[in-house]
Amino acid sequence: MSDPASKRPVMIVPSVLPADFSKLGEEVAALEAAGVDLIQWDVMDGQFVPNLTFGPDVIRSARRHCSVPFEAHLMVYTPDVMAKDYIEAGCSRLIVHAEACTHLHRTCGNINDLGATAAVALSPATPASAVQHVLDLVDMVLVMTVNPGFGGQAYIPTMEPKIREVQAMLEAVGRADDVHIEVDGGIGPDTIAGAAAAGANVLIAGSALYRDPEGLEHAVSDLRARAEAARA
Ligand code: DX5
Repeated sequence: MSDPASKRPVMIVPSVLPADFSKLGEEVAALEAAGVDLIQWDVMDGQFVPNLTFGPDVIRSARRHCSVPFEAHLMVYTPDVMAKDYIEAGCSRLIVHAEACTHLHRTCGNINDLGATAAVALSPATPASAVQHVLDLVDMVLVMTVNPGFGGQAYIPTMEPKIREVQAMLEAVGRADDVHIEVDGGIGPDTIAGAAAAGANVLIAGSALYRDPEGLEHAVSDLRARAEAARA
């Protein structure tokens, strides 16, 4: 089994889907104060997934309320059309879905040319091999542990072998210390260790952060401790 304890640090990253959209500025400031490493915006176009969320102007309005990096998880059919707007709104990483990109290699290169880092997301049925030929263009691979579109879904544990496969692919090309592995969906106290032990170092949590009765800061530190213990 590959050793996931690479140099990549554990990062706890909130999805703002469960946040109060009427006060997103306060919400992102509270997430920063709770100790998150960056913030993920789940961008949905109502076509690639049956849900509709944040335009670039919403993200731009939240940008001035905190200093942590933003990444946009583009669950959209037209990432090439949208990329520039989300980068100019303040996102330093764009995550595109392999399933939505006719020319994934070109899409990742365009994101890099626009000054952001590119990442590729794999929905549950998409094999790890879909990113084999773009590992030199990305700084992260996102292995979805739910089907994209909604928060609050159950973690899919059968994705853990895919996480290990991506880890092994990165090791095979000498990129294991440079390319993050992110997981997204159903991550909480009972599931984070399995994902981290498999190789994930960037862990997205939405529901688990907001439902913690001891608050955001406790949720972030508890998840971080569990992930670090699993990768030790
Ligand atoms: C799915 C979304 C969710 C969200 C996290 O498209 O990407 O996975 O970020 O939701 P929770 O943590 O509530 O499963």
